[in-house]
Amino acid sequence: MPYQYLLYEKREQIGYVTINRPEKLNALNAATVRELWDVFHETAHDDEVGVVILTGAGDKAFVAGADIAELAEQTPIRGRETARFGQQLLSFIERLGKPVIAAINGYALGGGCELAMACTIRIASENAKLGQPEVRLGLIPGYGGTQRLARLIGRGRALELLLTGEMISAEEAYRLGLVNRVTSREELMPTAEKIARQILNNAPLAVRFCLEAVTAGLEMPLEEALLLEATLFGLCAATEDFREGTRAFLEKRPAQFKGQ
Ligand code: COA
Repeated sequence: MPYQYLLYEKREQIGYVTINRPEKLNALNAATVRELWDVFHETAHDDEVGVVILTGAGDKAFVAGADIAELAEQTPIRGRETARFGQQLLSFIERLGKPVIAAINGYALGGGCELAMACTIRIASENAKLGQPEVRLGLIPGYGGTQRLARLIGRGRALELLLTGEMISAEEAYRLGLVNRVTSREELMPTAEKIARQILNNAPLAVRFCLEAVTAGLEMPLEEALLLEATLFGLCAATEDFREGTRAFLEKRPAQFKGQ
């Protein structure tokens, strides 16, 4: 499907989604959010894609936030709808069933930081800047930022970022646990691809169950989450990949997983 504001390609089981509005620092207008909805639904149902890498076009921005020109015209009713649709998109990404790696190649502000937080793993280049500057515009985050930031880095640190609206460096984001790794600009994509390939070498259903156990489990009481883990653990025994993985180990050869 051709997209106006996205680039999408598939290579060796990796789906590359690039938000492509560099002249506006890849700000998320409504059309881009709809296209993200479409592309992530496409990747979710595509067996040729095992991992998605999400990045921004150009060398300045991942995503510099929601489109402020559109926000400025917003009514209360539209605002609520916009926030709900964005939240649904990010929840869909978070529960895609396959890992999404955010390659944060520059500014990840507001909706951009929220989008990155819905991804499974975040890698930032050393020029990246992250933050939730909404309060400087008379707003609060509306794509889950108040919730995911606190869950990811803790309430106190999240509130400091949310209330000051301060932009932080990639190094500081790493120190806070907001990003998993920091690389040079040149190493950003190779690092994301290396992690993607490490994941792709593993049993796809086991990867999917791990994602589900962590993402869904964190929202449950511990006892229920442990039951979910045990159920998924048991379900692994029904897969061909489990038999192949254990047999390959015992036969001292690499496993050939089929995702079945
Ligand atoms: N929405 C709409 N347009 C945006 C945007 C956004 N969130 N962020 C940047 N742009 C546009 C600018 O308006 C400018 O467009 P123009 O050339 O037509 O005037 C273009 O992108 C380049 O941005 P500019 O501000 O000139 O770049 P800069 O390097 O001087 O500053 C930032 C970069 C990120 C510090 C600055 O663009 C900024 O503060 N953006 C808004 C961030 C924000 O508050 N996001 C949260 C929104 S809820």
